[in-house]
Formats: sequence, structure tokens, C-alpha cells
Amino acid sequence: MQENLRVLEKESLKDKIVLITGGSGGIGAVIVAQLLAEGANVIILDKNPNHPKFEVNPDQFFDFVEFDLQNVDQITRVVASILEKHGRVDVLVNNAALPGAGNTIEDVFTVDLVSPLKLIDQLVPIMTKQGGGRIINVSSIIGVLHQLSNEDSQKYFKALEGDSPDVSTLKSLCPNTEYAYAVAKRALIEISRKMVREVAKDGITINCVAPGYIATEGNRANIENPEIFDEAMKQIPIQRPGEPEEVADLIVYLCQSPPFLTGTTILIDGGQSTYYQNPLEGKHSLLNL
Ligand SMILES: NC(=O)c1ccc[n+]([C@@H]2O[C@H](COP(=O)([O-])OP(=O)(O)OC[C@H]3O[C@@H](n4cnc5c(N)ncnc54)[C@H](O)[C@@H]3O)[C@@H](O)[C@H]2O)c1
Repeated sequence: MQENLRVLEKESLKDKIVLITGGSGGIGAVIVAQLLAEGANVIILDKNPNHPKFEVNPDQFFDFVEFDLQNVDQITRVVASILEKHGRVDVLVNNAALPGAGNTIEDVFTVDLVSPLKLIDQLVPIMTKQGGGRIINVSSIIGVLHQLSNEDSQKYFKALEGDSPDVSTLKSLCPNTEYAYAVAKRALIEISRKMVREVAKDGITINCVAPGYIATEGNRANIENPEIFDEAMKQIPIQRPGEPEEVADLIVYLCQSPPFLTGTTILIDGGQSTYYQNPLEGKHSLLNL
């Protein structure tokens, strides 16, 4: 019996180079700290240079690139300069996102969907040449549960058919920015699944992580609002918000997970999605996380 037990070692992150967007704050900063603790070299791409001070050992490096993901047309240049400096990128974590509230539909789509896809587009040929890589896209519970009307659904899937999504059609399906966030996060999952079929032969895995109600600084208003908190507790069997560390643990795992783990979306929501028997049919006031 013992002979048949085969334990798969996690791939070590030592000497690996991880590029993460949105690593200056929230869940991203916790992911960065954990990646560094695992021995990885980390490059943050963030518009906010005020990141926490990270602990970096002498045998690893940390680099920060100040960049606003709104500037999609400059992503090619930024990736080229990273490669010139560091030579390779083994893992991409598309973590940065704009929430729906307080942003325009245009901006939400650019940061939450178009930029992550552009980064993937730039890095897949590099990872292919290197013999493989890991891509993790941070979506949301709303990206898993959001549903469109039958009529919108047809337009939505048509917009995802081509080599790159028809973002203007996707935007036209969004009456407001809350919808834009939900549609962008959903599209990120569906496009990732499609890409998996193209890149698997090159040793590249793509997975999505879909967090629920997480106690980040950015989510503080939702956590401290008793009405929202009480409603959330009705839905979450674990009876508390998630900690950023819990989401970061999962993402760090996916940065070094076995090649067979690809094409999946992992909800990390304290069981909240089990509250919904059916997808949300466009209702997502609380769950627009
Ligand atoms: N916090 C939650 O409860 C929650 C729930 C579901 C999903 N998520 C997802 O998890 C991820 C991280 O969320 P968070 O709560 O830590 O976010 P956050 O708002 O706390 O941090 C996001 C980081 O992204 C950076 N960023 C934002 N816009 C940018 C841009 N245009 N260019 C470059 N950098 C930019 C910010 O400076 C910040 O460092 C996001 O994709 C979010 O949608 C979070």
C-alpha cells in the first residue's frame, strides 16, 4: 500500500519570477508578502507606489513598476522593459481591479478585463518559450453567479466568440458600473477557460480565483455597514468575512500547483455561493464584491 502512495511535491517558487498587478494594497500586498516568504522573486505592477515594506532575502529580488493599467496601449512596452531587466516571467497574477462603484463603465472594463487579457497576450509567448508558466486571474463571486437575460446572454456569448472579446458589445449590456464589474469579472472567467485549451500544450496553466466577502481595507465600508454585514452573515455559512491571507494562500498555491490543475475557477467565499440555488439573474446588490 505504502509503495503506491505518491506524494506530488509542490513546484518550488524559489528562483521563479512572479509578476503581480495590484500588489501595493489589499489582497495583492498579502500575496506579495507570502510569495516572497516562499522564496519567489516578485515584480509588482501598480499605479500606487505606496506599497508596504516587504521582507526580501538577499537571494531573491523585489521590483516595483509604477503603472496605471488604464494605459493598455503601453502594456507591450512595460512588459518588454520587465523582460529586458529580469529576463523571464514564470507566473502572472492578474489581481488589480477597479470596483464598479465610483468608476465609469469604460474604466472598469479597461482595468478589470482588457488589461489582464493584454498582459496574458504578451506573456503567453514568453512562457511558451520558457517551457511553461502559471496564470492566475482574480475574478469574484459575482463573476461566477451573475446571469444575464436570455436576450443579453446571446449577445454576450457572441461577443466572446472571436480571438479577442468584443468589449463594446459587452459594455452595451451594462446599464451601470455595478453590472460592468460583474460582466467583466464573468468574462474574465469565461475567456480564461477558452484560453486554457490553446495554451495547455505549451505547459501553461490558467486558473481563476473568485473571492467573496473579504475583510480588506477597500471593503471596509461593506464590512462596517451593519445592514450589509447582517445580510452577508445570513448568506455565509462560515459566519464571518474572509481574511485577505486566506485568499492569498490559495493564490500562492496556484502559483506552484500541479500542471493538471488548470481551467478551473475556485470560489473562496465561506460557502456564500451555496445560498443561491440558481445563478443570480442580474440581481447582485450585496454580492457585487
Ligand atoms: N476585497 C474583496 O472583498 C473582493 C471580493 C471579490 C473579488 N475581489 C477581487 O480581488 C482583487 C483584489 O481586490 P482588493 O480588494 O485587494 O482590491 P484593492 O482595491 O484593495 O487593491 C487593488 C490594488 O490594485 C491597484 N490598482 C487599482 N487600479 C489600478 C490600475 N488602474 N492600475 C494599476 N493598479 C491598479 C490598487 O492601487 C491596489 O493596490 C480584485 O481583482 C478584486 O476585484 C475582492
